[in-house]
Amino acid sequence: MQVLTTLVLSALLGLAASRKCINQTVEVQIAARNGVFGGVSVPQTNVEVTNFTLRVTKQGHNFTNEGLTGYDTVSGSYNISTQYCVPDKPSWKRPVLQILTHGIGFDKTYWDLSYQDFRYSYVKNAVDKHGYATLSYDRLGIANSTHAENSKGTRDEIQSFLEVQALRALTEKFRDGTFPRAPKYKKIVHVGHSFGSSQTYALSAMYPTLSDGVVLTGFSMNSSFVGEFILGGNFLQAALVAPERLGAYPRGYIADSDVEGILTQFLLPGYYSPPLLNIAFSTQQPATIGEILTLGSVPMTNTFAGPVLVIAGGM
Ligand SMILES: *[C@@H]1O[C@H](CO)[C@@H](O)[C@H](O)[C@H]1NC(C)=O
Ligand SMILES: *[C@@H]1O[C@H](CO)[C@@H](O)[C@H](O)[C@H]1NC(C)=O
Ligand SMILES: *[C@@H]1O[C@H](CO)[C@@H](O)[C@H](O)[C@H]1NC(C)=O
Ligand SMILES: *[C@@H]1O[C@H](CO)[C@@H](O)[C@H](O)[C@H]1NC(C)=O
Ligand SMILES: *[C@@H]1O[C@H](CO)[C@@H](O)[C@H](O)[C@H]1NC(C)=O
Ligand SMILES: *[C@@H]1O[C@H](CO)[C@@H](O)[C@H](O)[C@H]1NC(C)=O
Repeated sequence: MQVLTTLVLSALLGLAASRKCINQTVEVQIAARNGVFGGVSVPQTNVEVTNFTLRVTKQGHNFTNEGLTGYDTVSGSYNISTQYCVPDKPSWKRPVLQILTHGIGFDKTYWDLSYQDFRYSYVKNAVDKHGYATLSYDRLGIANSTHAENSKGTRDEIQSFLEVQALRALTEKFRDGTFPRAPKYKKIVHVGHSFGSSQTYALSAMYPTLSDGVVLTGFSMNSSFVGEFILGGNFLQAALVAPERLGAYPRGYIADSDVEGILTQFLLPGYYSPPLLNIAFSTQQPATIGEILTLGSVPMTNTFAGPVLVIAGGM
């Protein structure tokens, strides 16, 4: 009877099966062989950002290859801002951890939107309903994780290669039990959205035993439409798009300049809850030009032997 009363009360309050989350910043020591793009100048003005996107998307050219002047090992200690969630149930037995990597334009809150009482929250669904533990994190360079320190850092430091190493380091902390305030996990599934899927895919190709399963949303190995994506965002200097919110980002961090950019890149008219468009725009995070230049640089072959789920939208 006590249980029943609690259940009824919780349902009335909309609190049924809530999750326990810990926000913490975790330091990772990482190194990667990054590209050196000596042939690409870091855009300092809005016009130079447009010049950059026009060059990157020029038909019949590969600007990544044309601007590449070499490779260099980039290493250091970086802070990664994380949110670790588990079901708030005494009987819960920590079976599987999902590590969630967000895409360009977002941060870790992508996975746990509070809009309409968490109706669209992936974390709520995974943790409360299905009993998974989750780790969402701001990708290296973005939101509350360490940013690129100067304009060169937005080109030669914050690239996909180094970010994949941050994902690897986070994963290893859970494998060996050194992630603060969390147990060891034997089973870890990696989930990504868009650029986060591309990093998840790269991780599974480079370290095929580090993951027990991979979920790639908004992802394709076919790069035919990357140009449309890049131009569709109508990118400008992040610090000029939203000075009060993104003003601390140095030049070379670029962001969608209007809601239509978000709409073109991520949503299809008629298939989303309208207020979400403005929420996505008013909370958007930028991308570095180094990320744009290394977007498509993933291993073309992959020996990962675990299960893979790919979800791509269409029209
Ligand atoms: C944890 O971080 C999220 C943003 O990712 C924020 O909404 C939430 O209020 C934070 N929780 C605490 C207890 O600070
Ligand atoms: C546009 O980009 C190209 C290639 O990086 C560069 O050579 C040129 O100087 C740039 N022009 C302007 C006006 O920024
Ligand atoms: C463009 O060049 C880069 C660097 O050489 C390479 O990794 C990438 O696969 C190329 N992209 C395409 C679509 O060929
Ligand atoms: C990480 O954050 C801590 C606490 O703010 C700070 O002391 C440390 O210097 C930071 N480390 C890096 C690599 O930024
Ligand atoms: C970053 O930190 C600020 C201040 O603590 C907080 O308000 C914000 O929600 C955090 N953002 C993310 C994406 O965690
Ligand atoms: C990529 O997609 C385009 C457009 O749908 C198609 O023409 C092309 O054959 C695809 N490439 C590969 C390698 O599948």
